[in-house]
Amino acid sequence: MNNKLLEVKNLTVTLDNGKTLLNDISFCLEHHQCLGIVGESGCGKSLTSKAIIGLLEPYFSVQGKVLFNPKQSKITLQSNGDLLKQNHETLRHIRGNAISAILQHPMNAFDPLYCIGNQVVETLLAHLTISKKQAIEKTLTMIADIGLNDPKQIFKKYPHQLSGGMLQRIMIGIALMLEPELIIADEPTTALDSISQLHILQLLKNIKQKSKTAMIFISHDLSVIHHIADHIIVMNQGQIIEQGSCDHIFYHSKNDYTRYLIDTRKQLLAKFNDVIHPNRLETI
Ligand SMILES: Nc1ncnc2c1ncn2[C@@H]1O[C@H](COP(=O)(O)OP(=O)(O)OP(=O)(O)O)[C@@H](O)[C@H]1O
Ligand SMILES: [Mg+2]
Repeated sequence: MNNKLLEVKNLTVTLDNGKTLLNDISFCLEHHQCLGIVGESGCGKSLTSKAIIGLLEPYFSVQGKVLFNPKQSKITLQSNGDLLKQNHETLRHIRGNAISAILQHPMNAFDPLYCIGNQVVETLLAHLTISKKQAIEKTLTMIADIGLNDPKQIFKKYPHQLSGGMLQRIMIGIALMLEPELIIADEPTTALDSISQLHILQLLKNIKQKSKTAMIFISHDLSVIHHIADHIIVMNQGQIIEQGSCDHIFYHSKNDYTRYLIDTRKQLLAKFNDVIHPNRLETI
């Protein structure tokens, strides 16, 4: 799998009661590539990302292979790099160093009892060889970079004192600072207003271009995916319906469900533009 960073093979997730939630999901991600996953609510996007990084609760049964082949990381992986076969400790190590996850519900990612700044500093100290003073400086710079005002005040806030969108931006900031080989971003811009969405999208695009980090970018918003993804997977009811290049999915797909998603998005945009921007043209 030389040039492949990640190879997901026949990933199937079932519940205790036998209900299949993900059915035979297979795809590859090359080094430096951005893979978009789209599909309607409940189709299995978050489950796919959580299964890959070993964050599913124990009552899910997971089958298949998730082969991870990092170039830079010094972690030794067992079983040909199959993430589904690593122990807890190795997985935690991978999540900190080689893979960063920006989760859909950011509140769960932070400890409610500690201020945000200290949590970011602790994370940096655990993964980078820098002093505490440098970690604090880096954190303050990052808070400004992700577009939040008054970094010193934000540093001292507790998670419940910040909005979901602010916490999500901080998770993105942490991912950007750790410079992992893979960022998994689950709806990273959905909780944000449209100006912040553009800002964050630009930050993620910059990291894709500069650090050449590979990305799995999950969104139900086709225009966001269109801006960032090289390759796209379309999911419906726990299955992959179609996958292909961004160009293929948006402009040449003959698949009924893919066309339905794109046409619905176009109709929504047309309606929105009619009302808000009667003279503006959208590309998708
Ligand atoms: N903890 C759970 N227990 C039982 N079923 C679950 C659990 N988590 C998710 N599911 C089910 O798995 C399916 C896929 O959920 P998932 O969260 O992956 O959807 P999604 O595509 O991320 O949707 P959204 O766009 O709303 O975030 C849904 O039918 C959901 O009800
Ligand atoms: Mg989700």
